[in-house]
Amino acid sequence: MNKIDFRSDTVSHPTAKMRAAMAEAIVGDDVYGEDPTVNQLQDLAADMLGKEAALFVPSGTMANIAAIVAHTQRGDEVICGQNSHIFLNEQASLAVVGGVQAHTLPEEQDGTLALDRITGAIRTLGNPHYPITRVIAIENTHNVMGGVPLTPAYTQQVGELAKQHNLKLHIDGARLFNAAVALDVDVKDLVAPADSVYFCLSKGLSAPVGSMICGSKDFIAKVLRVRKLMGGGMRQAGILAAAGILAMTEMVAGLATDHANAERLAVGLATIKGVHVHQPTHRTNLVYFDLTEDFPLDGAGLTSYLAEHDILMGNMYGSSFRAATHHWITAAHITKTLELVVQAAKAQ
Ligand SMILES: Cc1ncc(COP(=O)(O)O)c(C=O)c1O
Repeated sequence: MNKIDFRSDTVSHPTAKMRAAMAEAIVGDDVYGEDPTVNQLQDLAADMLGKEAALFVPSGTMANIAAIVAHTQRGDEVICGQNSHIFLNEQASLAVVGGVQAHTLPEEQDGTLALDRITGAIRTLGNPHYPITRVIAIENTHNVMGGVPLTPAYTQQVGELAKQHNLKLHIDGARLFNAAVALDVDVKDLVAPADSVYFCLSKGLSAPVGSMICGSKDFIAKVLRVRKLMGGGMRQAGILAAAGILAMTEMVAGLATDHANAERLAVGLATIKGVHVHQPTHRTNLVYFDLTEDFPLDGAGLTSYLAEHDILMGNMYGSSFRAATHHWITAAHITKTLELVVQAAKAQ
């Protein structure tokens, strides 16, 4: 594993301790609810997030759509950001799998959806032309808006709005623990107003597979059925859950290092002529930047230049990049990467 891989935090692979725990995990058939390690993982997730229950699912994409299906009926509407993962990057699963419609709103710079815009978008039974709004979905941290964390105060306000209108609040918390660490708050405070929330074990927390959906017991009972419908019922999944337990108990503190590395990368890149770094309202582990006309290489050129030096970077489109820091990116890797981008900036 010699490459320095910034393409995503999903490339983070399990630690040696995780691999040992996986090898020794006590397992059972989880579709029968008999895998003690999965049960332990689910209890731990529910406890850490302050929710009644939790369910282990194979991926974040399944977590989002399973939660939405459990909350909605065909023809309902889900309010979400126009740059949200659930809208942009899940193959229209809301429509295809859920039979529901996305009502997208533009995000503010800080990744939030303005409360007055949400209120204006809510549609109810009164008018027979309208679909019925059932869910408000927010993303924390908000990936495309720069990995920005949404605060407990904002989430509380959206939660109150949802309650007033009898809607469900769903949080796509793929990087929820990054948000909690960046804001220095208890993760419970970020999700208290939510009817459903999910987070990924397999991104910054380095587990190989899996996401946790959390909510009330009744909601999780519904999601359990949806997971089975989607083919997500796993058998001796305790082997995966063993890594997930360590992800939650041992990997959260290290996210602060990932954020510091991302910040140093962002600050360093911003000093290079021809590199424009996006400055989110609060940095976590994602650094978005673009090459301007002053940079001698285009996006594909810089990508190949870095790859020749064993650095993999996510060239999103054209000359736009995203670099994600994670457990396997060190301070020395940041130094090396900055040196190489400086060299590339001098290339003719
Ligand atoms: C914000 C957000 N939500 C959901 C997902 C989907 O997660 P998965 O890749 O596990 O399906 C991602 C993946 O990168 C994400 O960034």
